Amino acid sequence: MTTGQRAPDSDLETLTLGLALRLEELVARESLTELVRSMYALFGIPVRVFAGDGTLLADASTEQPLCHYVNTLRQGASACSQTVLGAKRKEPDAHGDATHACFSGAVYRVVAIDYDGRRLGKAILGPYLAPEVDAAPSALLAVDPALDPTRARDLLLRMPRAREDAVALIADHLRCALDLILFAGHKALLTSQMHLATVRESYRELSEKNQRLQEAFDRLKELDRLKSNFLGTVSHELRTPLTSIIGYSEMLGEGIAGPLQDEQKDFVQTIRDKGEQLLVLISGLLDMSKLESGTMSLRRTRTDLEGVLEDAVATLLPLARKRSIEVVLDVAGPLPELRADGERLRQVFLNLIDNAMKFSGERSTVRLSARTVAFGDGPEEDEGLSLLAPARQAIEVRVADRGIGIAPDVRSRVFDPFYQVDSSSTREYGGAGLGLSIVKRLVEAHGGTVFIEPNDPSGTVFVVTIPIEVESQPK
Ligand SMILES: Nc1ncnc2c1ncn2[C@@H]1O[C@H](COP(=O)(O)OP(=O)(O)OP(=O)(O)O)[C@@H](O)[C@H]1O
Ligand SMILES: [Mg+2]
Repeated sequence: MTTGQRAPDSDLETLTLGLALRLEELVARESLTELVRSMYALFGIPVRVFAGDGTLLADASTEQPLCHYVNTLRQGASACSQTVLGAKRKEPDAHGDATHACFSGAVYRVVAIDYDGRRLGKAILGPYLAPEVDAAPSALLAVDPALDPTRARDLLLRMPRAREDAVALIADHLRCALDLILFAGHKALLTSQMHLATVRESYRELSEKNQRLQEAFDRLKELDRLKSNFLGTVSHELRTPLTSIIGYSEMLGEGIAGPLQDEQKDFVQTIRDKGEQLLVLISGLLDMSKLESGTMSLRRTRTDLEGVLEDAVATLLPLARKRSIEVVLDVAGPLPELRADGERLRQVFLNLIDNAMKFSGERSTVRLSARTVAFGDGPEEDEGLSLLAPARQAIEVRVADRGIGIAPDVRSRVFDPFYQVDSSSTREYGGAGLGLSIVKRLVEAHGGTVFIEPNDPSGTVFVVTIPIEVESQPK
């Protein structure tokens, strides 16, 4: 258990050698006390253990009757404390042993507690008396003029007795036991120090990684902002010439620049249709970039949602007729007014109805149903309860179709910009994958939520919930 003088060359050694070992840190006081008490019980010789700085750590002794008596005398008490101090200050020799004699003839044995080449403290055994002593020495009789020689002799002979060689064995035994306890304590201390060092290292690594992640995140955020700016600028710049293309093709189609043949009319009509398609896409991009950069402001006014829904349905009716799709609007009771941006909500439902028709077969039905619900609760929540808490009321609109449906694992992804479940079907249906991301951001800008439910046996239900602000409720 002793270590050489060479320089530490491993983490463990650095840890071991760098540690200022202290007896009281290596061994619990209770264990020490237990040890010295058992030795006192076995051999009858008092034992005390002191830390390197002289602090008493464990004590198994009772005051000897002679000491008690001498301590009651003035000069005797001072001689006693000198003796005890002397024993405490005694430095053990190279073998770790020393003795200190008391004026009474009793002896203290001082035992060094060494570990790993370091002195951690000492143990003091005694006082004890050699077996052959049968009379009070003159030093004891002269210690105080008030001392009663007969009493002093009687009490002296009641001191624990031990031969020097027996005490040396007891000292060895104590050293061995302490060595074992210290070894276990040192191991535990090292383990905990290593554990601490490992935790510290992991923490440092984590902090570094966290820092790198934060930097990457900031870079991505900046890139995202640049992308939104770019999209916004490009879309804006594209819109002006496109409006002219649409306007001029419209005028051409109407024959303002001279009559056109049928085939020419068809061509012009195609230019106009594609131009309008492009305009929708560019407007979507512009909306997206405004929503992402937070520059789109809502113009909230008192809004009748039923009117908004009727308007959205009417706008898409020609398209529905073309595909023989029936669009049904079903409103449960009068809906409370919302404080909302009616135009933006119209855009939300146009997108949802457009999707519902786009991803349904011909001669299908798209059903819109609206009702008042308690906000924050499930759609099945009964209306009686929601009336009890008017401040948490909301209007729920369900847009249900019987189309191709959306698989559960992509239901949250369809709200990502440009995400389309199946790019081959997109080619068939058209679109850029922006509609739902705009829907989600607009609904959330109104403090609402949107999620997807399956429609039994086939199709999709988009559930939009918009909360009603307290001040906007009908009186
Ligand atoms: N009612 C629906 N039924 C089945 N799939 C749907 C439905 N609505 C949306 N999807 C899926 O979610 C994807 C994203 O929809 P989103 O409205 O964002 O884009 P899009 O309709 O493809 O294009 P855009 O709306 O920009 O014209 C769609 O491409 C489609 O795969
Ligand atoms: Mg769409």
